[in-house]
Amino acid sequence: MAQKTLLKGRVLSFVGSPFEGEPGDAVRVDEAVLLSGGMIAGTGSVRDLAKAHPEAEIVDHRDRLILAGFVDAHVHYPQTAMIASWGKRLIDWLSTYTFPEEMKFASPDYAAEIAARYLDLTTAHGTTTMCSYCTIHPESVEAFFAEAQARGQRVVAGKTCMDRNAPEGLRDTARTAYDQSKTLLQKWHGVDRISYAITPRFSPTSTLEQLEAMGALWAEHPDCLMQTHLSEQTDEIEWVKSLFPSARDYLDTYESFGLLGGRGLYGHAIHLEPRERDRLREVDAALIHCPTSNTFIGSGLFDMAGLMAAGHRIGLATDTGGGSSFSMLRTMAAAYEIGQLRGVPLHPAQLLWLATVGSARALRMDDLIGNIAPGMEADLVVLDLASTPAIAQRSARAEDLWEAVFPTIMMGDDRAVVEVWIGGRRALG
Ligand code: GUN
Ligand code: ZN
Repeated sequence: MAQKTLLKGRVLSFVGSPFEGEPGDAVRVDEAVLLSGGMIAGTGSVRDLAKAHPEAEIVDHRDRLILAGFVDAHVHYPQTAMIASWGKRLIDWLSTYTFPEEMKFASPDYAAEIAARYLDLTTAHGTTTMCSYCTIHPESVEAFFAEAQARGQRVVAGKTCMDRNAPEGLRDTARTAYDQSKTLLQKWHGVDRISYAITPRFSPTSTLEQLEAMGALWAEHPDCLMQTHLSEQTDEIEWVKSLFPSARDYLDTYESFGLLGGRGLYGHAIHLEPRERDRLREVDAALIHCPTSNTFIGSGLFDMAGLMAAGHRIGLATDTGGGSSFSMLRTMAAAYEIGQLRGVPLHPAQLLWLATVGSARALRMDDLIGNIAPGMEADLVVLDLASTPAIAQRSARAEDLWEAVFPTIMMGDDRAVVEVWIGGRRALG
């Protein structure tokens, strides 16, 4: 019989969207969650679950918060070792810091070392699924998938394709991008908990031929996700205009090559034109908010409230290492701060939803991960809401759940993460 585990604590799950109606009404809190065979078998009272499953091992987390593992919808795992590099905006930041680091992933050993380091760090921060860019090297994809597979993790990733405006050694071609992506996709997509994402980096680093080849590959494999960057900085948008003079706007550089669709993930999406917003909404594409990156690289303020109200599908992400943290707690805090700058404070329930259900919806995996419900995969994080003296003295005064949780969202880090479960196995704690 499968090993069963009963986790006691404050088990938080979503029964609706906290962006519709009163945010707190979208949340349910149970006393316990039962894990069995890598899946969530049930939630409810300790008495009922323990009575129905007397063989279950009980882990008592008292008043700790138990929620779905965080889902990071846009990261660059190869940028792990150059996170927090000083003083540049996007295009200079890419050429000064990013491209030299990504060059190193020609070495399978280096790729394996960083993949393991990245997944150790993200587990320590309570992130159980991520959608990552790799580098142009197929070895970088192999290393990431092999490491994730060994850990039983649900991950999405793809070979980052670039055939212009990148240094020698970091360029492929339209043909090799297509062939290598296809080979990796055929080898890995759907194996264990691994999914492949077709990954043109962004239109400035792809020729028209390469964008066309990526579009053709996506059309052949429409069940794959496609990830790229869109309208992150104003200088970048000007550059795109000069490279694609006949395009209607930035999105059109994807749309006209078959790279706009419902399984498309568009990172940043800050400076959107009305036509772009309309088309993204029409096809129900996912926009990925990367708040620590947007402030760190100086990109701008994502219009969360306006886009949510218009019905966009939105995920939350660190964008490591343009983002300045591996922590989805810190990322929620930055999303809150950007909301404040735009005059719309996000409720803690909305922040937690974005980091779990919202990102899982963006990845079209919300039937599998991102929430606690029977039949979903058992990826969980257990948070101590008094992990530092500063947080503890504030949460001690809390008069309700949200006042207890918000100090950890704003001030918490990996010290708040006391236990992590991945696929029903204890990965931390
Ligand atoms: N645009 C194209 N590549 C990148 C990248 O690696 N990071 C960020 N933040 N933006 C990009
Ligand atoms: Zn990115």
